[in-house]
Amino acid sequence: MHHDLFLLENKIALVTGASRGIGEAVARTLAAHGAEVILASRKIDDLKRVEDEIIKAGGKAVSIACHTGELDQIHHLFNEIKSKYKRLDILVNNAATNPFFGDVLSADERAWDKTFSVNMKGVFFIAQQAAKIMKDQGGGVIVNVASINAIRPAPFQGIYSITKAGVVALTQSFAKELAPLNIRVNALLPGLTDTKFSAAILSSPDIMKIVLPTIPMGRVGKPEEMAGAVLYMVSDAASYMTGACIVVDGGMLA
Ligand SMILES: NC(=O)c1ccc[n+]([C@@H]2O[C@H](COP(=O)([O-])OP(=O)(O)OC[C@H]3O[C@@H](n4cnc5c(N)ncnc54)[C@H](OP(=O)(O)O)[C@@H]3O)[C@@H](O)[C@H]2O)c1
Repeated sequence: MHHDLFLLENKIALVTGASRGIGEAVARTLAAHGAEVILASRKIDDLKRVEDEIIKAGGKAVSIACHTGELDQIHHLFNEIKSKYKRLDILVNNAATNPFFGDVLSADERAWDKTFSVNMKGVFFIAQQAAKIMKDQGGGVIVNVASINAIRPAPFQGIYSITKAGVVALTQSFAKELAPLNIRVNALLPGLTDTKFSAAILSSPDIMKIVLPTIPMGRVGKPEEMAGAVLYMVSDAASYMTGACIVVDGGMLA
């Protein structure tokens, strides 16, 4: 019998930052392949819009508000997951922030703390909470969303780039320690993608004049173009893959 390697039927998946952009596209894709998706971000109304659309399309989704830079909110999120589902098969650790655009000489402690609390502390403790559930149930899959900035920091995005390099190290650390527990941990490294996150860059003709020629495919990515790589990583098609980074960037790092 043919086994569809990309089928996620009966899987419970948590996607952070699922209210728009890459997280929304990932949530829709996982739901379309049969997973029940838990959508998390700060704004419940925005999550409900995505939830409604997934349900209208025949999928399963629920929304839980969570500021992923706050440990008490992370604990609340996981208490809800444990009481409602008692399991978690897939985590897509996608929420991130980039409040500071500027040179390293003018970056201050506030920008450092805010960026690290969401992009590093939140990503670490969400992965830890998820992995504890996955350990108890005998396995699971985690995908952390980093950035090509982890490998090639962009100018004026120093703190952000440092956190994304941290996400790669976090991915590799978790992958090594959790492999014996049947938990795979990989990272997606998106290039420039058309979302609210990159709006400041995309809406500046001066910046785009410099950036576009550095992308061999000559265009920015769409959120949906990130979702296929995540689907692969969380699926049985990637059963021997852990500690890896998949770059989806139109050739920018080539
Ligand atoms: N767009 C790009 O060019 C690009 C390139 C490389 C990597 N990435 C990475 O891709 C991921 C998704 O970014 P995106 O481009 O899809 O951005 P986006 O469209 O701005 O979406 C960001 C998502 O994260 C949520 N979020 C932000 N701060 C949060 C917080 N403190 N707690 C919980 N949720 C929070 C937002 O929802 P709420 O406002 O409701 O909280 C939203 O759902 C990020 O990790 C980003 O670093 C993006």
